[in-house]
Amino acid sequence: ALITLRQLLDHAAENGYGVPAFNINNMEQGLAIVKAAAACDAPVILQASRGARSYAGDIMLRHMVQALAEMFPDTHMVMHQDHGNNEATCFSAIRHGFTSVMMDGSLEEDMKTPASYDYNVDITRRVTETAHAVGASVEGELGVLGSLETGEAGEEDGSGAVGKLSHDQLLTDPDQAVDFVARTKCDALAIACGTSHGAYKFSRKPDGDILSMETIRQINQKLPNTHLVMHGSSSVPQALQDLINANGGQMPQTYGVPVEEIERGISMGVRKVNIDTDCRMAMAGQFRKIATSNPAEFDPRKFLIPAMKELEDLCRDRFERFGTAGQA
Ligand code: G3H
Ligand code: 13P
Ligand code: NA
Ligand code: ZN
Repeated sequence: ALITLRQLLDHAAENGYGVPAFNINNMEQGLAIVKAAAACDAPVILQASRGARSYAGDIMLRHMVQALAEMFPDTHMVMHQDHGNNEATCFSAIRHGFTSVMMDGSLEEDMKTPASYDYNVDITRRVTETAHAVGASVEGELGVLGSLETGEAGEEDGSGAVGKLSHDQLLTDPDQAVDFVARTKCDALAIACGTSHGAYKFSRKPDGDILSMETIRQINQKLPNTHLVMHGSSSVPQALQDLINANGGQMPQTYGVPVEEIERGISMGVRKVNIDTDCRMAMAGQFRKIATSNPAEFDPRKFLIPAMKELEDLCRDRFERFGTAGQA
């Protein structure tokens, strides 16, 4: 059944677990993710970016999610707008059956320019007011996602460079977070702690200098009752890098967020963990493997079945490690 983000994260907080939020763009991703959730008795957050909505179409996404809810009646799922850039994006998502939206006011509408604090408070507060009036939940974001190593934003919403960011912008200020939540009344707060979107997060296994779990600890100390969200939480597993590169890929060596750091985050109030890149790599790794090992193959299902299996395995691992398994 479809539920709201608020309902799910309140349950997660009461029971001390985290929930992965996996991005979906098509039927195969939806099937693999929800199959894994059902197999683990885990609730799950499905999220669609603006790019996903234009790729599949709002009508297709709406019916797909309805179909998944019908196929897996015992699985609690949230349908969430990832990185909404303005009010229109958030409200059209709700109209299409999303039970939750992210209003990302950390950047301006173009998703490239870091926004002022006042802009962020204002737009997030307005979205929350309306979303709550119709029974949907809201995630806000304070701080800009990006690398503490390079000051680069990574791929915020896939729409390109943000320009050099300062340490201050890249780490959410705990006192400002308190003010932001009080003024916007958002249900969940995405924070910046040194993670970034995409595969190229860290040039080495991250330590406290480049991945600031300390920031999360400080925010949680001041906001013990706020559900925290970690974006850019793909682990970029070495095994998937190797699978891709062993089959003709050319991904330069890179490092993601270690799952044990996410587990620490969950012990410090992180409730929603955003993962897209790992899912892409799981599917792409199997596409490459099939293409390499059977170059005569041309039935898409022969590529998609192992790709779904690889994604399902990844999701099951995260449900187990985050404590989501058994909580459905
Ligand atoms: O926020 C980034 C997510 O990975 C979505 O990416 O905009 O390419 O769908 P996308
Ligand atoms: P990754 O690129 O690390 O998977 O992050 C996804 C994300 O934050 C979506 O909002
Ligand atoms: Na989101
Ligand atoms: Zn994100």
